[in-house]
Amino acid sequence: MYTRPLEISSLSKVFETPAGRFTAIKDFNARIAPDEFVALLGHSGCGKSTVLAIVAGLQEATLGGVIIDGTEISGPGLDRALVFQSPSLLPWMSALDNVLLAVRQSHPKLPLSAQRDLAVRYLNLVGAGEYMRQMPAELSQGTQQRVAIARAFSQEPRFLLLDEPFGMLDSMTRADLQDLLLRLWRQSPKTVLLVTHDVDEALYLCDRIILMTDGPEARVGMDLRVTLARPRSRQGLLDDPEYFRLRGVVFKYLELHSRQFRKEAA
Ligand SMILES: Nc1ncnc2c1ncn2[C@@H]1O[C@H](COP(=O)(O)OP(=O)(O)O)[C@@H](O)[C@H]1O
Ligand SMILES: [Mg+2]
Repeated sequence: MYTRPLEISSLSKVFETPAGRFTAIKDFNARIAPDEFVALLGHSGCGKSTVLAIVAGLQEATLGGVIIDGTEISGPGLDRALVFQSPSLLPWMSALDNVLLAVRQSHPKLPLSAQRDLAVRYLNLVGAGEYMRQMPAELSQGTQQRVAIARAFSQEPRFLLLDEPFGMLDSMTRADLQDLLLRLWRQSPKTVLLVTHDVDEALYLCDRIILMTDGPEARVGMDLRVTLARPRSRQGLLDDPEYFRLRGVVFKYLELHSRQFRKEAA
């Protein structure tokens, strides 16, 4: 249906700080194809969240911008749904009401009963149906993230913007939620931009990994296609030499850049 890539074009971001101007991002360029699943990977503090927040329309670019369907974005939009690392559900609303709020905004013309059905359907899809009456504080962090994922998908957005969505979870829950995300993405394809610093997560989930240089003045350092066949399984990857080759490329890149960074900082 959609054929044009999302373009991040000559993006720069300067923060005014008490210590002066800080150029976090400089001349960052990327094109992301419709329904592509892309990881934005780099060392902590390189500027991943800043790029994602600008794509989300939550922060403004200093120079350059983000172009969707030939038009530069000027703020947040219902075409882009977000999931963050930290719990982002509204604490005074049940899980169902949290999802319903997003459905009402994204599907304002649906009758209330259909809005409710949609919200319940997505809560069931993420395996959180039985918790829909509960308040966020009553839910485990993993279940809260399931609800946040249900909320994002229930918006039926074109773009899913994820900022280390599994970063706070234990490794078993993280694996479950990675599989859930892959299942939902296959059922209802969309363009995904996933910020992560987890190499194996990026290789397991993504079609492509955009590696950032360390900041300041961070930009794209390497753009790596992940050609591993889908559907993927963790066990299957362990038998795939291509997986280890790609893993080697990414770790070598990260090591080289952290060394450069340390040298420059010294
Ligand atoms: N509001 C801000 N004001 C000043 N500096 C900021 C602000 N937000 C982020 N930065 C700086 O910009 C750089 C990139 O931050 P961030 O995008 O959060 O990195 P990452 O998500 O890769 O860890 C960091 O050096 C951070 O300290
Ligand atoms: Mg971040």
